[in-house]
Amino acid sequence: MHDDDGYFDEHVAARYDESGEIAEMFDPAVVDPVIDFLVEIAGSGRALELGIGTGRIALPLRRRGVPVHGIELSKAMAARLRSKPGSEEIGVTIGDFATTTVDGTFSVAYLVFNTILNLTTQAAQIQCFRNVAAHLEPGGCFVIEVGVPELQRLPPGETIRAFHVSETSWGLDEYDVAMQGLTSHHFEIVDGRVAQNSVPFRYAWPSELDLMAQLAGMKLRERWSGWKREPFTSDSRKHVSVWEKPAV
Ligand SMILES: C[S@@+](CC[C@H](N)C(=O)[O-])C[C@H]1O[C@@H](n2cnc3c(N)ncnc32)[C@H](O)[C@@H]1O
Repeated sequence: MHDDDGYFDEHVAARYDESGEIAEMFDPAVVDPVIDFLVEIAGSGRALELGIGTGRIALPLRRRGVPVHGIELSKAMAARLRSKPGSEEIGVTIGDFATTTVDGTFSVAYLVFNTILNLTTQAAQIQCFRNVAAHLEPGGCFVIEVGVPELQRLPPGETIRAFHVSETSWGLDEYDVAMQGLTSHHFEIVDGRVAQNSVPFRYAWPSELDLMAQLAGMKLRERWSGWKREPFTSDSRKHVSVWEKPAV
């Protein structure tokens, strides 16, 4: 990590909502199905967002009547959230979502947009599942949205795959198969210069996440390939998984 804000420092936070492929993630066509899904699972309870960022999901979820609290490592990202109308109704605790605790219990905790992979060790990912389980009320759910590792798309011997290409921005994923490592390199032309941001991840298969849930005392309730409950198959590029804490 470069500083206290991790890989989402002031420079990244300032451009997060508009930059490259991330801007597309703010489109209502992308956000609305996420909100519909989470509203249904939250029921009359509270929601905990791990890695709340600038509030892409938390703000519309709060507008739909669900109380939301967030955990966020980056003060710069949290400050962007704070600058937006409606954010005064959302609590944010600054800290690492693998270990940070907050008051109260939640009917749903969610970790979207591949953010579980920001924890770059298996131990930290397991710790995150355990931390979530400790915050859920009995019968509460943990929802993760994360890509399926794209190793089938990597030609033998190659380590790099382009995941985004436009006239002004490019994204390259670099795999280290032995370590389950993945570094996402983002390049974007800003004011006539190329800005680079490279973020390390630890990729994990759906079955490994199921095992982490089991270690934390939760079990798989649903797995889909998208927020509209599209079937999860061998061709799915990502999954939306829901693990449940036992009701008693
Ligand atoms: C890709 S952004 C997603 C933000 C938001 N959830 C969204 O969907 O737009 C990942 C966020 O998680 C935060 N983050 C990464 N690792 C974290 C950690 N270990 N603890 C807390 N926040 C973390 C980053 O600072 C960043 O704001």
